[in-house]
Amino acid sequence: MNDREQSLKTEDATLQAEAAAEAASAHVPQLDLPEGAVILLPTRNAVLFPGIVAPLMVGRPQSKAAAQAAAQNERPIGVLLQSDPSADTPGPKQLHSVGTLADIMRYVTSPDGSHHLVVRGTRRFKVIELLEGYPFLVARVEEIGEAEVYSTELAARLHQLRERAREAIELLPNAPPELTGAIDQLQSPSQLADFIANVIDISPAEKQALLETFDVAERIDKLLREMAQQIEVLRLSKQIGEQTQESLSGRQREHILREQLRQIQKELGEGEDGQAEMEELREAIDKTGMSEEAEKQAKKELKRLERMPEASAEHGMIRTYLDWLIELPWSKLSADQIDIAEARRILDEDHYGLPKVKQRILEYLAVRKLNPDGKSPILCFVGPPGVGKTSLGQSIARAMGRKFGRISLGGVHDEAEIRGHRRTYIGALPGNIVQALRKTETRNPVFMLDEMDKLGASFHGDPSAALLEVLDPAQNSTFRDNYLGVPFDLSRVMFIGTTNVLDQIPGPLRDRMEVIEIPGYTEEEKVEIAKRYLVKRQLEDTGLSPEQCEITEDAIRAIIGYYTREAGVRNLEREIGAILHRVAMKVAEGEESHLRIEEKDLHDILGPRKFENEVAMRTSVPGVATGMAWTPTGGDILFIECARVPGSGKLILTGQLGDVMKESAQAALSLVKARAETLGIDPSLLQKADIHLHVPAGAIPKDGPSAGVAMFIALVSLFTGRTVKNDVAMTGEISLRGLVLPIGGVKNKVLAAVRAGITTVMLPERNKKDFEDVPEAARGAVNFVWMSTVDDAIAAALAPSSETAEAPDLPDDQRHTSNG
Ligand SMILES: Nc1ncnc2c1ncn2[C@@H]1O[C@H](COP(=O)(O)OP(=O)(O)OP(=O)(O)O)[C@@H](O)[C@H]1O
Ligand SMILES: [Mg+2]
Repeated sequence: MNDREQSLKTEDATLQAEAAAEAASAHVPQLDLPEGAVILLPTRNAVLFPGIVAPLMVGRPQSKAAAQAAAQNERPIGVLLQSDPSADTPGPKQLHSVGTLADIMRYVTSPDGSHHLVVRGTRRFKVIELLEGYPFLVARVEEIGEAEVYSTELAARLHQLRERAREAIELLPNAPPELTGAIDQLQSPSQLADFIANVIDISPAEKQALLETFDVAERIDKLLREMAQQIEVLRLSKQIGEQTQESLSGRQREHILREQLRQIQKELGEGEDGQAEMEELREAIDKTGMSEEAEKQAKKELKRLERMPEASAEHGMIRTYLDWLIELPWSKLSADQIDIAEARRILDEDHYGLPKVKQRILEYLAVRKLNPDGKSPILCFVGPPGVGKTSLGQSIARAMGRKFGRISLGGVHDEAEIRGHRRTYIGALPGNIVQALRKTETRNPVFMLDEMDKLGASFHGDPSAALLEVLDPAQNSTFRDNYLGVPFDLSRVMFIGTTNVLDQIPGPLRDRMEVIEIPGYTEEEKVEIAKRYLVKRQLEDTGLSPEQCEITEDAIRAIIGYYTREAGVRNLEREIGAILHRVAMKVAEGEESHLRIEEKDLHDILGPRKFENEVAMRTSVPGVATGMAWTPTGGDILFIECARVPGSGKLILTGQLGDVMKESAQAALSLVKARAETLGIDPSLLQKADIHLHVPAGAIPKDGPSAGVAMFIALVSLFTGRTVKNDVAMTGEISLRGLVLPIGGVKNKVLAAVRAGITTVMLPERNKKDFEDVPEAARGAVNFVWMSTVDDAIAAALAPSSETAEAPDLPDDQRHTSNG
């Protein structure tokens, strides 16, 4: 389609008439035309369609005469295309036979002597014969009516026609908006067809063919074919246009764009700074030595950045992204300098004891040294809080000459915290692996994945799955953070995990790691650690010199015994810190130049003792026994209390016991009932009252069968009235036949008992094999009793009956004297 005005303006009309001057004169003879005759206006290349308003230029004298005659007599004029455009005075052979009748709306004579008509097409006509004897062409014509018969087929065509027309308009570079309006408004199929036929860019002959197609459906079909071709042409030309624009490309185009950009920036007052910044970024990208994929991505983003106004939010976002890419240690490696002797020295310098752990670490380093590129296992330190897992990791990094990074997994329950958020999120950031990499500034740091047992999962995705990928040597060389969107090689990172409990780590993760257990410390070890490390470190932190302050060994022991009860040394370190702060204050005030802290000073500084020897207090009545529990924090002692209350022989259990523990309480009671006679218990005692068994201490997880012996002993104590010795703790599972079965966590339980001031520890005979795990110092601190049956337990735990008063906790009405 071309511009409609364009096609019609270039119109000229021919007229077989006298000179223009005469035609223009006022006295045109009265026209006498027979019925059905019409003045014709032949055109060289304009086709007028019904319903169209169009300007026509009238050039030939004959045409002028015809136009004037029609205008003055207010008659319609028949616009008819010449079949031979070159004929100046066309005869019947040089004319088509179908044209359009038009009303003359305007007749304009311009000063330069040219004449113009504005006409509106009304209906088609067919020439029957040309009439002789007129100064212009006159013909007898037959008007062709339009039968507007609607059918669904026609409606469908109409719809098609509209769609195509819209499509075509969209492809037109400067289509006037009225065009679309008209296409939407015209409801009559023939009108719409004629309207489109008028605007479409086809040859006059093709237009004429459309004009001559009287059947509307047929006309629309023809039109659709023409349009399909037109649209194809438009599409192609648009493409070609774009391509030529692209081929302008290269330096030239970039130059033009940059120039434009500079102008814009100037206007915005942003000027040369921006330019310099871009240059810097470009250089920085080149310098990082990033992977090919990352570099491509960075350059792409840089280009976007250049086009972005500095004040826009998007600018900031891209800038931040580029900074991340640039600041990652793509190629920075710290050279491994593994010297085993030196490593041993460093490990000893930082940590007291832990011979097995240190040995394992040194072995690991030795393998690393011999085969730096081999797959080395991922170490995982398992142990209670404050035993030095994190600080061991730091020492390893130091021993290897690598940077150290810590990634805390505690409370991480969203995959995105590990792998980052996509950049489409507002405020998106990389995950903590990438963040840690940026901090360590090398590609081969030691990363500590701390608190792996505190990893959660939520609907945001399972972080352990992401972690698996991080730890998998087959995958981690192409670790893809969501924010970065490009892979980063993690294969040179050395990962070390830490956890308090192993069971809580998802299975697949656990399988990937080599577990190194770090047990809790004995009192002696703690004293050594405090003397050699903690005091020294805290002195440094407070800025005191060893000459200014001294903490006696007794004071340290008192802190360990009465102010802390823990497997590790974290609280011990904190209390020492608190003492030194107090000293520092006194020294700073100039009161003292040398302070010696003794046990008696602790009350003043640390407040009253936090822990007392509970064992002695609690077991002074029958019905209470001391058990030992394994806990994630390293083990603890716990008390089993039971009492008889009026009732019918039921067992009441309280203290938030787990199912297994409840069952073992049932078993203990059944065993007592079964042995009542041998134990010298009056059977009626067992029937007249309910037994309430309670296990206080909320913080200790209470499940598992290992409290069986303690429960049994507590019950026997209750019914016989014999108290349990107050310095004895026991652990072991019981069977209904009275056997004592082995349990787990011996080492931690023993350490906990020693901490609590127990002197005799009762363990299942079958746990003797675990004895060697128990640290030397603890072995010396307590007596061990090995039980194979509950009789062994009774013999070791209960005080002789003569020492025992009447059972004090029985209600008066049920008081009963034991004869055991
Ligand atoms: N054997 C040791 N020798 C010297 N210092 C130690 C030793 N064990 C622990 N420490 C010190 O105790 C403090 C606590 O240790 P660290 O933070 O490494 O414990 P952790 O095992 O990581 O605990 P958590 O499980 O709570 O993270 C540190 O200052 C550490 O240096
Ligand atoms: Mg830690």
